[in-house]
Amino acid sequence: MLLGTSLAAAAAGRAGAQALQPGAAAAGPGLYQIAREKGLTFGAAVQAGLLASDASYAAAYEREAGLLVPEFEGKWATLQPREGEFDFAQLDAIVQWGLARGRATRGHALVWHESFPQWAVAAVAEGAPRARAVMAAHIARVLSTTRLRIRDWDVVNEAVADPPGSDTPQPEGELRNTPLLRALGPSYIETAFRMAREQDATLRLVLNDYGLEEDTPWAEEKRRRLLVLVRGLVQRKVPLDAVGIQAHLQIVRPFSRPVFRDFVRALRAEGLAVLVTELDIREGNGIPEDYVARDRLVAERAAAFTEAALEGGVRTFLTWGLVDRYSWLVSEPGVARQDGKLHRGLPLDWEFSRKEMWRAMAQAFAAA
Ligand code: G3I
Repeated sequence: MLLGTSLAAAAAGRAGAQALQPGAAAAGPGLYQIAREKGLTFGAAVQAGLLASDASYAAAYEREAGLLVPEFEGKWATLQPREGEFDFAQLDAIVQWGLARGRATRGHALVWHESFPQWAVAAVAEGAPRARAVMAAHIARVLSTTRLRIRDWDVVNEAVADPPGSDTPQPEGELRNTPLLRALGPSYIETAFRMAREQDATLRLVLNDYGLEEDTPWAEEKRRRLLVLVRGLVQRKVPLDAVGIQAHLQIVRPFSRPVFRDFVRALRAEGLAVLVTELDIREGNGIPEDYVARDRLVAERAAAFTEAALEGGVRTFLTWGLVDRYSWLVSEPGVARQDGKLHRGLPLDWEFSRKEMWRAMAQAFAAA
């Protein structure tokens, strides 16, 4: 094992060192190969349009991503924009691209309030029977269409309400106030999972959420709320297989390795797998000007987080994109930096070159 570790670490170090020469083309094994050598999976969120239009983008995914997740192509708003009208073209483009290269695609997300088209909002507001029928029809059609190609789905995304003090205040209650919660009550969550399980006995069904990672009272309360939800689902024998931790990290927030490691262990103790599903790292506006200082801080947080997750038992890591240039961190209002600088929160920089963050993750995988 030691020899294996030192060889893998050397590969990560060499690949990292070679690849980190300014402007160097990425030499050496990609993150997914370094991870795979240790029985881990590394992948990234991907956009079908960019795979088709940007050869450097496609080459980067070919080199680095062993698992794909559609950034928006698998969501309700894209798959069923109008009732009964399904469009799988963009999702299928991602699945086919992956299959041609021996890469799997995971599904994101069957039920998510932020990608819930207006027609569905209006329909579920008509009452519980209609709401149940609309949710059942979507889940049945999506899973029956993709079941031979996508074996792992975020069934419900972001079901837990943000604790007080967040910038999006939520009415009282520990579950997010969404159209389906209003129509069906808290049982919508287990209903979604049972409907998914009815479609296929072997799909991995995942509950995905954010804000669970950092060492703050806010995140501690969100972790508590998620554990209450998860323990209830497990007790009621709801077909839940895994929890997805999004991990949109912020450097300006403290991070504690033992706190996060123990949270992962608490979820694993419920018999669940735990995945890191959307890792990226936001710098905040006060972070130093030059790239070197910022990339170092991002890499340090990436190392601490990845190592803590590995210690807790996480075996699958996805970043939310691979390349800074196309990250939601640089385009999303309220997330992008206000000082004109652009976040550098992903493994590859604007020009697709491997950054300190890439090496930090490569070394954490190699040392696993
Ligand atoms: O460019 C596409 C166009 O080709 C396509 O036809 C059209 C279809 O709606 O969408 C166009 O662009 C937008 C897409 O981002 C690409 O930038 C979509 O309009 C827009 O809705 C989409 O936003 C995504 C957002 O979720 C909502 O789905 C972001 O890419 C994506 O980064 C973001 O990801 C979420 C996770 O799903 C859940 N966790 C938080 C994370 C960040 O908000």
